[in-house]
Amino acid sequence: MGALKVLVFFGVIVGCLSAKQFPENFLFGAAGASYQIEGGWDADGKGLSMWDVFAHTPGKIKNNDTGDVACDSYNKYKEDVAILKQLGLKVYRFSISWPRILPKGIPTEINQAGVDYYRNLIKELKDAGIEPLVTLYHWDLPQHLAELGGWLNPRIADYFGDYARICFELFGDQVKYWLPLNEPGTTCVHGYETGDLAPGLPLSGEGIYQCAYVHVLAHAKAWHIYNDEFRSKQGGKVGFNNVCFWFYPKSNNSEDIEAQTRAMEFGCGLYANPIYNGDWPQVVIDRVAYRSKKEGYSFSRLPTFTEEEKQYINGTSDYYGLNMYTSYLVEALADESFDSPSLEQDLAYNSTADPSWAHSASEWLNLDPPGIRNVLNYVNEKYNPGEIVVTENGWSDNGELDDQGRVTYLKGYLSNVLDAIVEDSINVIAYTTWSLMDNFEWNQGYTQKFGIVQVDFDSPNRTRTLKSSAEWYKRVAAAKEIVD
Ligand code: NOJ
Repeated sequence: MGALKVLVFFGVIVGCLSAKQFPENFLFGAAGASYQIEGGWDADGKGLSMWDVFAHTPGKIKNNDTGDVACDSYNKYKEDVAILKQLGLKVYRFSISWPRILPKGIPTEINQAGVDYYRNLIKELKDAGIEPLVTLYHWDLPQHLAELGGWLNPRIADYFGDYARICFELFGDQVKYWLPLNEPGTTCVHGYETGDLAPGLPLSGEGIYQCAYVHVLAHAKAWHIYNDEFRSKQGGKVGFNNVCFWFYPKSNNSEDIEAQTRAMEFGCGLYANPIYNGDWPQVVIDRVAYRSKKEGYSFSRLPTFTEEEKQYINGTSDYYGLNMYTSYLVEALADESFDSPSLEQDLAYNSTADPSWAHSASEWLNLDPPGIRNVLNYVNEKYNPGEIVVTENGWSDNGELDDQGRVTYLKGYLSNVLDAIVEDSINVIAYTTWSLMDNFEWNQGYTQKFGIVQVDFDSPNRTRTLKSSAEWYKRVAAAKEIVD
């Protein structure tokens, strides 16, 4: 073999053996949300949110914990940004607290201290070379609007539009990635079906669909406002955020395969399909109509979009913000198993975890890394979203510093994201792990920790300490490949 041939031969071998790389411009980052990290619940003119009220109601949250102080990021945001910088992360997903900007949720009064807080945070990020990815609404609805009916009242979409416009005006010169909402599905199921999250309304079988309807209208309104009034001068993107878990049929029988379709369409599709395809998924339309009829309703419990609304909502997303954590096995249940209107009855399946999957500290969260690649393929095929950002993905434990469980989880899921990019040609442009820091995990209080950075909730200054996963993630972000 000539010298050149030998060189080429070894070049090919090394090329094959070397690890797959994330694209050069891929952004690694971390995420958090206002109520979960900021504290300052009544500081400097902030109004009440429905989460302030819910958490202050005894018995709603484990140990009666609240987000009153949380990680104190309202005062310690500079430290948070310094940590992101130290880890070499290039994007930070955070949310704006609606009542910190508009204390009552309405545009009559803007709270300047709130504006200053977010402008300072954004400046700090930009100075550190970190891209802000901003969620406008991560569940802390102004209490005033919750009392007006919250996500059951279609007018909330108008209020949300006014709020979104104000945020685009105030911050849009610096922010290029927006997400109007966070996980409408979680709010609609837990806030308005089961009632274990704020506003705590167990409106079984009905609240969820009205809530989904209003969320879709609100998202579309924010997108149109950006598109019509800001896009040409600000040049940013407004994405739709949605949580999609992966469901496997428990067996190959057709009932279980149909149950898998229901699981995906009532979970992911209920929210994404209107935004990408202009209406509810057909399976959902048919199923809720059928069940409603059986229950004696003269109409479907699922609201109908008018033709005008269908036009308005269709195509209102510039990128898909995917929250993905876990997988389940689904087994169909017979229709006769139920006798009153509920989501459970509309779904008609049992979901379980495969016994081989490891479990986190959260009862709903299992380790199934291929699930994220399945979901990325599903979302890509069904919605053709152009770009996808994995806006949440992470693991909960008891907060230990040597968090090898989280390293295993992130390694597995990120490898599958990489395979989706390299092998399946899916355009995932960024990944923000949940979460930068341990924080207030909603009705679980501080009992479940998702951070790659530990927060000492017993110390008055909420000391932050890097965990093993943060050190590992730092190396991944630097190498742009999965490292040991
Ligand atoms: C989804 C939510 O967006 C976030 O707020 C929550 O903490 C994580 N999942 C973990 O449950």
